[in-house]
Amino acid sequence: MCGIVGYIGQNEAAPVLIQGLKKLEYRGYDSAGIAVYHDGIQVVKTKGRLADLDAKVKEMGGVKGGMGIGHTRWATHGAPSDVNSHPHSSMNGRISVVHNGIIENYLQLKAELETKGYVFQSETDTEVIAQLFDYYYNGDMVDTLIQVIGRVRGSYALGILCQDKPDEMVAVRKDSPLLVGIGKQENFIASDIPALLEYTKEYYLLNDNEIVVLKKDGITILDMDKNEIKKDIYHVDWDISAAEKGGYDYFMMKEIMEQPEAIKKTISPRMVDGNIRLDDIQYTEQDIKDINRIHIIACGSAWHAGIVGKYVIEEYARIPVEVDLASEFRYRNPILHKNDVCIIISQSGETADTLAALREAKRQGIRILSIVNVVGSSIARESDDVLYTWAGPEIAVATTKGYSTQISLMYLLALKFGHVRGYVSDDKLQTLVTELQQIPAYMEKLFKNEAQWKALAKTYAFANDVFVLGRGIDYAVAMEGSLKLKEISYIHSEAYAAGELKHGTISLIEDGTLVIAIATQDALYEKLVSNVKEVKARGAKVIAIAKEGNTEIAEVADTVIYIPKIHDAFTASLNIIPMQIFSYYVAVERGCDVDMPRNLAKSVTVE
Ligand code: AGP
Ligand code: GLU
Repeated sequence: MCGIVGYIGQNEAAPVLIQGLKKLEYRGYDSAGIAVYHDGIQVVKTKGRLADLDAKVKEMGGVKGGMGIGHTRWATHGAPSDVNSHPHSSMNGRISVVHNGIIENYLQLKAELETKGYVFQSETDTEVIAQLFDYYYNGDMVDTLIQVIGRVRGSYALGILCQDKPDEMVAVRKDSPLLVGIGKQENFIASDIPALLEYTKEYYLLNDNEIVVLKKDGITILDMDKNEIKKDIYHVDWDISAAEKGGYDYFMMKEIMEQPEAIKKTISPRMVDGNIRLDDIQYTEQDIKDINRIHIIACGSAWHAGIVGKYVIEEYARIPVEVDLASEFRYRNPILHKNDVCIIISQSGETADTLAALREAKRQGIRILSIVNVVGSSIARESDDVLYTWAGPEIAVATTKGYSTQISLMYLLALKFGHVRGYVSDDKLQTLVTELQQIPAYMEKLFKNEAQWKALAKTYAFANDVFVLGRGIDYAVAMEGSLKLKEISYIHSEAYAAGELKHGTISLIEDGTLVIAIATQDALYEKLVSNVKEVKARGAKVIAIAKEGNTEIAEVADTVIYIPKIHDAFTASLNIIPMQIFSYYVAVERGCDVDMPRNLAKSVTVE
């Protein structure tokens, strides 16, 4: 993960780099560092958060110079420490490098360089780039970079400074994201758009192994044969405020509250006169009828969204759906048929495991439809068709609006495919579409109960274990709710299919164990009530989530959270709200850093 930035221009580089890194800190926060050029390269770096770096720079009275690179790290090779922090330098200090990714053959390269007398300081893979660059350096940064790229295996986004070059830096990417920001008498590189927003809204996207030469008054992009590449300019259409907290304590709460709007933006343009129109993808009616099987591939919460997708697509479109974890799919020799479709779900569009799975499916000739939030991201660019979730920038590591918009696109696909394939009549479609349009308003209504969930969070903040139960779609939401709790509050939690509990896990229920029982599927409601009785009989404390009007569960559960009466197919969109807010307040109560939970990073660009 890691975030990298680079600046060259007429202003002081250090404040721009630190400001940019602030916007990338969600990508990793084990350490931070900058290298700035002014009569030579000066490196300042430290273990810990960006605030520690900022303090260090201020203590030094600032760092002078109009060109620099910066890094915020999510450690893959070597513990978070001062010495393992980026930027890394060559032994003689001539070269300075920031890196996002993994150099897979670094041990071999390191051994080779050691025989040539290079001495290494850190345990990172990145340091070999600095030393190797120095070894090949012949006065020409581009030539040298081409030689270095020829030697390394793995993934990288790199920003590189050289002591001999006061007015240029070079950068390159492969399988890790990197953008080039276009300014006036200043230019930038960055891992993600928020780092650029304060300075420019125009940028270039880079393909693998395209080399950038960044100068104050010019940007040159070259291929590996040094041919210049002409690039389209992209324009960001969100405002800087979209990437700021706007009065909330944490991005996560802001993003929770943005869900109704994000869903509206995602579904409204695709619903016209009671019909679903997916004009952004090139599927003819015949293509849809011909689909043999769908493989949904994703990681983490996006995988949970895929499980909701399986339930609704199988229900309405009657197409068999398999849901795979990307990291498993690519290594398990999957059986694919030429009329299969792969649906890739990813908020960032940069998740390394997901991208690798996409490439594997593509290699086997399968058509790829991706559901992505970041326009122009690697997954979007490598897919045959893309449906964008219009959630806007999501900064908190724990996804909320990303997930909600993903499941709303699952509904649209299920209903569209079902209608085309003749399983969903015109009338039924009309009814379901009308119901679907209610989701944002129902969410707003639910937010009014925030105080109830905050109080519950206070009561249960120090629980040791939490079990989240559900059946059908409720089980899919249980998984997502349980992940939310785990990742931000560090409470051990497990999601269980409610019917499966008695096959083993019920042995873990003891006096006072917290169980959250999601009981919003009409056909399964009574079964859930029985499951609640089973855990109550073993001493559990139960918070139930049920539809308004289904009050029987209140007789067995300790507390009931009611959601508006909505069609069973769409309950996931509402159930997840109390789970998100409960998890949020538990984390706050426990003093956790909600937006930047330990050991995690937002965008997982390493395998
Ligand atoms: C969600 O809260 C997690 N931080 C994580 O599981 C995430 O959903 C996963 O890493 C996938 O990311 P993506 O959607 O950007 O591909
Ligand atoms: N491999 C580098 C390190 O551990 C960069 C990590 C990353 O990009 O996630 O420092």
